[in-house]
Amino acid sequence: MLNLPEGINDYLLESTEPEEELLRELAEATSEGTKWIQMQTGHLEGSFLRLLIQAIGAKNVLEVGTFTGYSALSMAMGLPADGKITTLDIEPEYTDIARSFWEQSPHGSKIELIMGQALESLTSLTGPFDFAFIDADKQNYLNYWEAVVPKMRKGGVIAVDNVLWYGRVLSPKHGDDHAIVTFNERVARDERVDRVMLSVRDGITLARKR
Ligand SMILES: C[S@@+](CC[C@H](N)C(=O)[O-])C[C@H]1O[C@@H](n2cnc3c(N)ncnc32)[C@H](O)[C@@H]1O
Repeated sequence: MLNLPEGINDYLLESTEPEEELLRELAEATSEGTKWIQMQTGHLEGSFLRLLIQAIGAKNVLEVGTFTGYSALSMAMGLPADGKITTLDIEPEYTDIARSFWEQSPHGSKIELIMGQALESLTSLTGPFDFAFIDADKQNYLNYWEAVVPKMRKGGVIAVDNVLWYGRVLSPKHGDDHAIVTFNERVARDERVDRVMLSVRDGITLARKR
């Protein structure tokens, strides 16, 4: 994450509406049940995604990268009763946790999980989607982008997580670093979308289909 001045992250959280109890429990279960709590979007970003979904009146949402289901549940909370999220992942160890929490929420029925290689699953989805969140393996970010953009409706919004990659975009060394840099370069000149990169958490790119 970006190095914010001491106390600013707590201040951001205090200045945002409180986290729902079930989401708080899900974060706790992720911390206890996996080694990867840092992969979870968490309260700030989850609230941001939910607000975006409400702001554009999204009904049909796509997520690439479910993990333990925090972002999917946060987004589901922003959808109307007839809204739907299709979320893709490959790792049952994580998605079993997701399912067990979604079941406890009145919004869980809006979420459909498709297991398997996300790129393969994407071929069977036609959309059109109002909102998409890309947050899976970094090596495939560009492939996900190319698969998702044509499935968005005009005016639909794509959010992409971790585009600053803990600051490593400035001096890429490893495979994932280069994948994110290549992805960012492609998006920056992609005329199919309006686009902006934000320094929220580990960097989020927002793009609106033209
Ligand atoms: C950063 S986590 C997603 C976090 C989630 N959005 C949240 O907020 O809790 C990335 C997820 O992508 C999944 N993933 C990685 N490679 C994948 C692939 N090739 N196909 C489908 N899912 C994949 C991982 O299993 C992991 O759960």
